Amino acid sequence: MRHVQLAVVPADGVGPEVLRSSRTVLEALAQIDGGIAFEFREFDWGSERYLKTGSLMPEDGTRQLEQGGFDGILLGPVGDMRIPDHVTLGGLVLPIRQEFDQYVNLRPMRLLEGVESPLRNGTVQNLNMVCMRENCEGEYAGVGGRVHRGKAEEVAIQSIVHTRAITERLMRFTFEWALKHGRKLVTSVTKSNSMQYNMVFWDDVFREVAADYPAMAHDQQLVDSMTVRMIARPESVDVFVGSNLFGDILTDLGAAITGSMGLAPSANLNPERKYPSLFQAIHGWAFDIAGKNLANPIASIWSAQLMLDFLGETELAARLMGAIERVMREGKVKTRDLGGTSTTEEMTKAVCAAL
Ligand code: IPM
Ligand code: MG
Repeated sequence: MRHVQLAVVPADGVGPEVLRSSRTVLEALAQIDGGIAFEFREFDWGSERYLKTGSLMPEDGTRQLEQGGFDGILLGPVGDMRIPDHVTLGGLVLPIRQEFDQYVNLRPMRLLEGVESPLRNGTVQNLNMVCMRENCEGEYAGVGGRVHRGKAEEVAIQSIVHTRAITERLMRFTFEWALKHGRKLVTSVTKSNSMQYNMVFWDDVFREVAADYPAMAHDQQLVDSMTVRMIARPESVDVFVGSNLFGDILTDLGAAITGSMGLAPSANLNPERKYPSLFQAIHGWAFDIAGKNLANPIASIWSAQLMLDFLGETELAARLMGAIERVMREGKVKTRDLGGTSTTEEMTKAVCAAL
């Protein structure tokens, strides 16, 4: 029996519903497989805990995750109307990404058959991109300060930090992944025309790393024009690597043009496997539909699929992807974000049936 230990942090908003879906689907897969058992340990971390105790997770939260022997972490969205966003995110998601050296945030953006793209020229053939987003530092390094609050002399500084260690490993991971997955082009997203230190450094490292992979074509694109390229010439975008903030913005765009935020998954990876990796839908906590059985669980389920793949459960990963594709292709079950009226539970059942 293969035992897979998973930490589950449903967190806020629609999190509990969509993570329940992921668990249900993983359990269905285990039944079919017969040789694998998923063991879930739930953590009640999130905004409710913050309101009660003053912190989203215990002080030794990451240590608990590290010492729990987990193969992966399934995380829901984090946020609450009553708490400023930088407090919730700085109290849970960002520390896990940073402390667990999850320097790759892998985000597929692929139009599935049966899903409609808002792009007139968007097809299943030309909308198939993957973003490798830097995930530990850059614009999110958390370095800066604010003085003279509220006064005319007020100053706020948010520093961008890029290290060679992370930048290089991220880019090597990107090229290796692109080669392994039969991709054709790696694009570096930059802004070195206006940021002469961090982004010129980024370009230098990209050029050095690309030179080690002559079999893979590469190019670079300024981030502003990357938005245009993704929309006007989506077929020209294959795998791209970007800084933390650029990757964040471009993957929301990618989710929109491939049909819905409700479909878009992510894998926060520590490729060395020194720490557990984290899998999370890229959407937010969607307070307006929370607890109503309306959220699209596919983003969460697809994130679990990325986890299976990362854990080397390639057969199960392929089966699950096939099931997601089938449900979308048949189009009988559609949540509201896809223009339908199906519930979270109906969508989950449909995926299990397709398995
Ligand atoms: C994402 C989210 C997060 C990010 C927020 C919630 C901190 O937008 O995962 O894309 O910016 O990384
Ligand atoms: Mg985002």
